[in-house]
Amino acid sequence: MPRGYFITFEGLDGSGKTTQLRRLAISLESKGRTVVTLRQPGGTVLGDRIRSILLDSRSEASLGPIAPAAEMALMFADRAQSIAEVILPALAAGSIILCDRYTDSSEAYQGGGRQLGSQRILAMHAAACDNLQPDLTLLLLPSLESSLRRARRRNQRHVEKQGTDENRFERESDDFYRRIYEKYEEIAAREPHRVATIREDASIDHIEEIIRRIVLSRLDHAEA
Ligand code: TYD
Repeated sequence: MPRGYFITFEGLDGSGKTTQLRRLAISLESKGRTVVTLRQPGGTVLGDRIRSILLDSRSEASLGPIAPAAEMALMFADRAQSIAEVILPALAAGSIILCDRYTDSSEAYQGGGRQLGSQRILAMHAAACDNLQPDLTLLLLPSLESSLRRARRRNQRHVEKQGTDENRFERESDDFYRRIYEKYEEIAAREPHRVATIREDASIDHIEEIIRRIVLSRLDHAEA
């Protein structure tokens, strides 16, 4: 059985990566591939509990502010569990894994946004994840202006909806998102082979087509 293929999706809040992930899953499944999808944080029983601690804005009221290093450690506890429970078994079974966010999110959000720096995140990745790297990362990164606009719009939608709790990250400032954006740029420049950066600010259908082409050509190479 061939080893599976591990793909992650990255980008700022509101970048559209979740929609693209779903579309890619449908397209790969229609070609007869076995696809496993998951998101981080979450996707396991432990991970869903961690997710609600991390993302529920009310948890700040009940828990007090979460220290950046605690936030980082919780993200990695979630990740270590999903590697053991979902990712490694799916890879061993030859599946294609589509994961909504992975360690690049920790580097961008905690390393960049919360200013912990890349080194701490990469050390944590080695310790908690045995350095498991995706085969391919699809980074949706339109211009900074457009990314900030999308993040703000998404923030606004959460505020209007009220009652949806998952907005702790989305209440952050433009500066926070600017630091995340810059960290993503840094990761893309550092690892150009792994990270395919999609900068187009185009329609959902157009981006879907770009992603489909990248993925099919990578899979062809991997399986040649
Ligand atoms: P989610 O609702 O999944 O947002 P999105 O659809 O944008 O992925 O919330 C995930 C949030 O958690 C998002 O704001 C990014 C943040 N996050 C981190 O800060 N560090 C991490 O390691 C991960 C995986 C996510």
